[in-house]
Amino acid sequence: GSNILSVEQFDIDSIQTIFAIADRMQPYARRQKRTKVLDGAILGNLFFEPSTRTRVSFGTAFNLLGGEVRETTGMESSALAKGESLYDTARVLSSYSDVIAMRHPKSGSVAEFAEGSRVPVINGGDGANEHPTQALLDLYTIKKELAYHGHDVDGMHICMIGDLKFGRTVHSLSRLLAMYKDIRFTLISPRELAMPDSVLEVLDKAGHRVTITDQVSGSSDADIVYQTRIQQERFTTPQEADMYRGKFRLNSEIYTKHYKPNTVIMHPLPRDSRAEANELDNDLNQNPNLAIFRQADNGVLIRMALFALTLGVADQIEKYECDVNW
Ligand code: CP
Repeated sequence: GSNILSVEQFDIDSIQTIFAIADRMQPYARRQKRTKVLDGAILGNLFFEPSTRTRVSFGTAFNLLGGEVRETTGMESSALAKGESLYDTARVLSSYSDVIAMRHPKSGSVAEFAEGSRVPVINGGDGANEHPTQALLDLYTIKKELAYHGHDVDGMHICMIGDLKFGRTVHSLSRLLAMYKDIRFTLISPRELAMPDSVLEVLDKAGHRVTITDQVSGSSDADIVYQTRIQQERFTTPQEADMYRGKFRLNSEIYTKHYKPNTVIMHPLPRDSRAEANELDNDLNQNPNLAIFRQADNGVLIRMALFALTLGVADQIEKYECDVNW
């Protein structure tokens, strides 16, 4: 097995392979079938930064394949707080686990950890850098949502909104989408929170059409609107983040005014529900185009597929099926 550190390591074929396995995971995720293909295997789930979805869906995905999960959450409860290096931590923890999923606030930290690890390491988010498994579940969701409307990823128009500077999910998703054909990107953010040049260069090199703006008007033919949260934890001071919070809201009124009727609404979550932010209003909760919880559900399927591939058991999942006895 190998590490999953960046979306750059994938291509269209490997993405297709992952998605085909994810499709096969549906009956297990729905508890219609059980498998013990990873019986005896241990996932080290190391989250040195807050997480709900990524941490729990990695754990659930591993459990659904029959494996067990060891959790470490929070920097202060690990020996990193005593000054231990990521390398030493990796040397030690990788002998306790068969695969490790890790999130850490520093860009490049998961790759640094992987150098000391003797088992595959999966990046669950490293600072403002990348969140490759989120990008895969986002793309998987985009494909499904667009297919429902009779469209394809190639040629689509995606509108990304909010904190595009610190939002690692939009960095990874953009790099992944760059592998497809003729995509229109409308990147809406305050000027100070624009998409980094390193990502823009990838889109430019692949020949995609990119519009950079601080206005939401002009997106009326977007197929996808991908809203994000102001990443308060990446700013130097909380006051700095306050200046941008609430600038790009999306609610039923704005949606109806600026987007076509079937525009798919996405957000990696968590959405900031405080009144001063409220980037994705609850008045959209009953809108059938709101895909945010389908994204989160798809996270389990994608992470099951990634574990199966990483641990080399993708072709044996059905062989180890067992009875559902509850
Ligand atoms: N989307 C995402 O990464 O959510 P969590 O921070 O809850 O893991």
